[in-house]
Amino acid sequence: MAFTVGILTGGGDCPGLNAVIRAVVRKAYNEGYSVIGIKNGWKGLLEADTIPLDLEAISGILPKGGTILGTSRTNPYKKENGVAKVKENFKKLGLDALIATGGEDTLGVAYKLTKDGVTNIVGVPKTIDNDLSATDYTFGFDTAINIAMECIDRLHTTADSHHRILVAEVMGRHAGWIAVEAGLAGGADYIMIPEIPVDMDELCSAIKRRHARGKQFSIIVVAEGAKIKSQDITKDQTLDEFGHVKLGGIGEIVAKEIETRLGIETRSVVFGHIQRGGAPTAFDRILGTRFGIRAVELVKEKKFGRMVALVGNKIIDVPLEDAVKELKTVDMELYNVAKEFFG
Ligand code: F6P
Repeated sequence: MAFTVGILTGGGDCPGLNAVIRAVVRKAYNEGYSVIGIKNGWKGLLEADTIPLDLEAISGILPKGGTILGTSRTNPYKKENGVAKVKENFKKLGLDALIATGGEDTLGVAYKLTKDGVTNIVGVPKTIDNDLSATDYTFGFDTAINIAMECIDRLHTTADSHHRILVAEVMGRHAGWIAVEAGLAGGADYIMIPEIPVDMDELCSAIKRRHARGKQFSIIVVAEGAKIKSQDITKDQTLDEFGHVKLGGIGEIVAKEIETRLGIETRSVVFGHIQRGGAPTAFDRILGTRFGIRAVELVKEKKFGRMVALVGNKIIDVPLEDAVKELKTVDMELYNVAKEFFG
């Protein structure tokens, strides 16, 4: 029987996942391996829910957003007998290796499994949040910041016409990468990130300074996980399957606060899942492709328990552990560049 590689995509979807799947299948084909697609992340491995992946299955998927395999936030460690089921199905499906594509949660599970006896796993880092350690960039992020930048550009013209302050809430649960990079590229007048709780007096003084110069509108970019000093904001208390509270709502709170303090009409808009949808940028297609090819090379070299990563412009591999032990938060040098334009 041919050497068989499984691939799954877990956690929030992101543009570039199909580029990884395509590259994995193509490289595996070139190596004489067969590939099984595990549907819906770890859920598919718990349920042995799979599809065969051949050259036909990957035809035309490169420009498509999302993932042809589907995704979920199912965590086998939170299911009864979950790990035993994963082990059983790994054998049943005849998997010689598994390529797990995901963010901190999906790769966290991959790392734990390698410790618990499912050793033949290679990780591929993905998240629009760009908050995974050990890699300079994750694919999906470039697409997300370009979408958010375009939305910020559009807010400028309407904010200017109506002399309003517009607060744009972008994704970014624990790290403000999207807020900082989309805000910088879009010319934001203030950026709030989870790493630094914001003092509303300071934010309002910055906006006042700007309006004193004659400006009649402002754009504030707020990461969904950002906090006002001494206030914690979550949409509701329900948890997703990885145990995270649902975020959202900070933009609206900030907008109300600004309007009350400054007496200038202020509205908020949540960019939400638009940031994750649609076709990947060229950067994300290329990064996903390079990651996919290198992941199969790692399988071939039997370098398991490792993750592909981008460092500088080189694709390297690092221990899975390095990727999941801590989040990569915003580089303060970059935030300081953005700060020069506050107010
Ligand atoms: O992890 C990626 C991400 O897009 C985060 O930025 C965001 O907090 C979360 O997923 C949203 O998850 P869901 O699609 O489950 O609402």
